[in-house]
Amino acid sequence: MNLLEVNSVCKTYGSGETAVNALKNVSFTIPKGEFAAVIGESGSGKSTLLNMIGALDTPTSGKVWIDGNDIFRMKDEKLTIFRRRNIGFIFQAFNLIPELNVEQNITFPLLLDYKKPDQAYVEEILAVLSLTDRRNHLPRQLSGGQQQRVAIGRALITRPMLILADEPTGNLDSQNSNEVISLLKTASKRYQQTIIMITHNRSMASTADRVLQVSDGVLTHLGVYAE
Ligand SMILES: Nc1ncnc2c1ncn2[C@@H]1O[C@H](COP(=O)(O)OP(=O)(O)OP(=O)(O)O)[C@@H](O)[C@H]1O
Ligand SMILES: [Mg+2]
Repeated sequence: MNLLEVNSVCKTYGSGETAVNALKNVSFTIPKGEFAAVIGESGSGKSTLLNMIGALDTPTSGKVWIDGNDIFRMKDEKLTIFRRRNIGFIFQAFNLIPELNVEQNITFPLLLDYKKPDQAYVEEILAVLSLTDRRNHLPRQLSGGQQQRVAIGRALITRPMLILADEPTGNLDSQNSNEVISLLKTASKRYQQTIIMITHNRSMASTADRVLQVSDGVLTHLGVYAE
C-alpha cells in the first residue's frame, strides 16, 4: 500500500518577473514503511517539496494523499490534528521550547494530545540519542548537535506514520549521524514508519530504500535499492 501519493504538484513562489517555479509537476508514490532519501542541489526545491508533503504550505496546483487522505481537502483544524498525530517533522531549525528540559521537549507532542508517554520508549529514545544524562538540561545548556537530537526524539515519540526530515544530521559529526540514521531506519522497520529524508550526503542517501533527486524543481527517481 502507498502511504504517500504526490500527484502533479506545482509550486510557484511570487508572481510576474520575480516568480520562482520551485516545483514543476512533481508526481511519485512511497510505499508504507519505506525509507526514501531526497537529494539535489541547493535551491532545487527539496525543502519546498517536504513542506508540501507536510502540509506546512499549499501547492499552487496538484494533490497529496497521506494514508488515503487528501490532505489539502481537510479543514484547517482537522489537518492540524492529523499532522500532529501522524507526521513527525525534523527540521534544521529545532524549535525546542526553551523553558522545557530535554525529556519534556521530547514528550511535548504527546502532552498536546493528552496522552501519557510510554516511559520505556522515552528511555530508549534518550539512550539511542545519547541524551540520558542530559534529560534534565534546558535547550540553552546543550550543544547544537544535542539540540538536534532532542528534535529527533520529539519527532519519534508519537510513532508517526510519516517522518519528514530536512537534513536531520546536518549539525552532527559522522558517528552521531550514523547513529541517528540507524535509529530512523530501525523505527521505520519496527513500526512500519515511512521516512522521507533530505540529505546532501550521497553515501547516506545510497543506504536508503529509494532515492529521489530534485533538479530545478523537477523530480527524477534514481531507483529502488535491493533489500
Ligand atoms: N518563501 C519563498 N518565497 C520565494 N521563493 C522561495 C521561497 N522558498 C523557497 N523559494 C525559492 O524556491 C526554490 C527552492 O527552494 P528550496 O528551499 O525548496 O530549496 P532546497 O532544495 O531545499 O535548497 P537547500 O539545499 O539550500 O536547502 C529556491 O529558488 C528558493 O529561492
Ligand atoms: Mg532546503
